[in-house]
Amino acid sequence: MNKIVVLTGAGISAESGIKTFRDSGGLWEEHRIEDVATFEGWQRNPKLVLTFYNERRKQLLNAEPNAAHKALVELESKYEVQIITQNVDDLHERAGSKNVLHLHGELKKVRSTVDDNLVYELEGWELKQGDKCEKGSQLRPHIVWFGEAVPMIEPAILFSQEADIFIVIGTSLNVYPAAGLIAYVPTMSPKYLIDPNAKSLPNVKNLEIIEEKAGKGTPTLVKRLLL
Ligand code: APR
Repeated sequence: MNKIVVLTGAGISAESGIKTFRDSGGLWEEHRIEDVATFEGWQRNPKLVLTFYNERRKQLLNAEPNAAHKALVELESKYEVQIITQNVDDLHERAGSKNVLHLHGELKKVRSTVDDNLVYELEGWELKQGDKCEKGSQLRPHIVWFGEAVPMIEPAILFSQEADIFIVIGTSLNVYPAAGLIAYVPTMSPKYLIDPNAKSLPNVKNLEIIEEKAGKGTPTLVKRLLL
C-alpha cells in the first residue's frame, strides 16, 4: 500500500478556532516565547507558564476537528497514512487518524520534571503548582519548548524518507527540525503544500502549492488522491 506522510502545523487547526503562532493576532503576538515556551521561562515563572498552557487546554475543550482533519482520515481507506504534526492539540486523533506523531508534544499530557519517561494524561484542563509526579516532583506541560530536544525527529525523518506522497498543511515552515523534513522526501515523490499564504520552495522538486485554507484545500486534494 502506498505511504502518505502528512506534516501539519497550526494552520490546520485554525478553522477549528485554535490560534496559530505567527499570523497577525497569533499567539506569539500576545506572549513572549522566552516567557512561556522555554525551560528558562518555566524556571523563572512556573505559574505564568502553567497558566499559558491551562488557557490553551481550556480552549481545546471547545474545539472540534474540522474538514481538513476529517479528510485525512478518509485517505486511510486507500493509503498507509502517517501524520507528523507540530501541533499539540489532539484534533487529528479525535478526527480518527490512527498514526499520529507529535513532534512538539501534547497539550493533554504532563510529565515529571525529574524523569522524562514519566508522562501522564492530564484529567481536565488545569495543571497547578503542587501537582506532582509519582517521584514527588512538580509536573510540567509535556511540550517541547524552544531550545529543548525534539525526541521524535528520528522516526519522523524515517517516515519522510519512505513517503510515496508528502503533504504539508498549515505550517510557516519557520521552525526546525520540523521544517527540514521535506528535504528527506524522495525527489520523485509528489509533494503538496496547502496554505493560503504558502511561500515558494524553489529547491523542492515535484511540489504543487495549493493556496487554499486547509478546510477547503485538503478535502479537494484527498478526493483527487482517492480517484
Ligand atoms: N489553513 C491552512 N493554513 C493556514 C490557515 C488555514 N485556515 N490559517 C493560517 N494558515 C497558515 C499560515 O499561512 C502559516 O503559514 O498556517 C501557518 C501557521 O504558521 P505558524 O503560526 O508559524 O505555525 P507553525 O508553522 O505550526 O509553527 C511551528 O512553531 O511556535 C512554534 O512549536 C510551535 O509548533 C509550532 C511551530
